[in-house]
Amino acid sequence: MRYSTIFAAVLASAPLLTSARPVRARDAATNALVFQFANVLNQLESEFYKQGIAKFKDSDFTAAGFTSSAMVSQALTTIKADEDTHIAAIQAALTAWGNQPLTCNFKFDSALTDVPTMAATARTLEFVGVSAFLGAANLLPKDLLDAAGMILTVEARHSTLLNIFSGKGSAIPSAFDIGLTPQEILGVASGFIDGACDLGLTATKPLTITNKAVNPGDLLTVQGDGISGTDGLFCNMIQGGNATSVNLPLASCNVPQGTNGPIAVWITKDNKPLSNDVTTRATDAQVAGPAIIFVDSQPEQLGQMVRKA
Ligand SMILES: *[C@@H]1O[C@H](CO)[C@@H](O)[C@H](O)[C@H]1NC(C)=O
Repeated sequence: MRYSTIFAAVLASAPLLTSARPVRARDAATNALVFQFANVLNQLESEFYKQGIAKFKDSDFTAAGFTSSAMVSQALTTIKADEDTHIAAIQAALTAWGNQPLTCNFKFDSALTDVPTMAATARTLEFVGVSAFLGAANLLPKDLLDAAGMILTVEARHSTLLNIFSGKGSAIPSAFDIGLTPQEILGVASGFIDGACDLGLTATKPLTITNKAVNPGDLLTVQGDGISGTDGLFCNMIQGGNATSVNLPLASCNVPQGTNGPIAVWITKDNKPLSNDVTTRATDAQVAGPAIIFVDSQPEQLGQMVRKA
């Protein structure tokens, strides 16, 4: 629990726990909301790994192409332990601030059908973990950024491992990650939440990309509430480091040549690109999304050593 102690020390200098400067009610509510949100997201990840580790045998991992099942189990166990430690630290902060930590239930039936599906889902969840902390940073006061950053960097390490475990992607596919708003993260995670889990936030409409694998040049096919046909609809693809989305008519939503790594995809009803900045991204024309896809156009030796295609 050494990590939690340091986390607590950072929090101790944070506004809500000191009387050094007055805290406005709005700050307190926002801080609690962001920490509740992080609490739920970490619970989701922890529960996912718990069920995945319990469900699959060594032979399932080797059947999925992993060169060593012990190596994968060890890594997944470490990741789960990190998530549990994060939960303990986040919940301790919430309790210290006088908030009851929210606990939610999750369902992973569709994501734990086999090891390849589990590995692909974990890869998305870890990307989403990074995007969530990045996208919520602007909501936190400076005093809490250190504490949030201590978790963010570790989520990024998990993300790298899961990229490697895909066996076909780049370990570090992009020089820049993509921030997503809490509403967008909830939209991505909504399929895994079972029953009430009331954060007081409205999730964006979930979007599914129905292509099995996506390569540069491929036409994306989508499914989601409010989407029938392609008329009047546009797809938006954001790649890390780009200022805006590539906006294309949905009927010709082809992944740009040269794309590699994670892409966030939205469907909108106008041809204005979306900003790659959570504080300025317009929501009025959004129909559904984001969905996260991985374009694995630059396979690396590291992944291939760990998992054979
Ligand atoms: C990102 O920006 C590069 C450089 O402008 C462009 O070639 C590429 O198509 C963009 N990709 C996406 C998915 O935004």
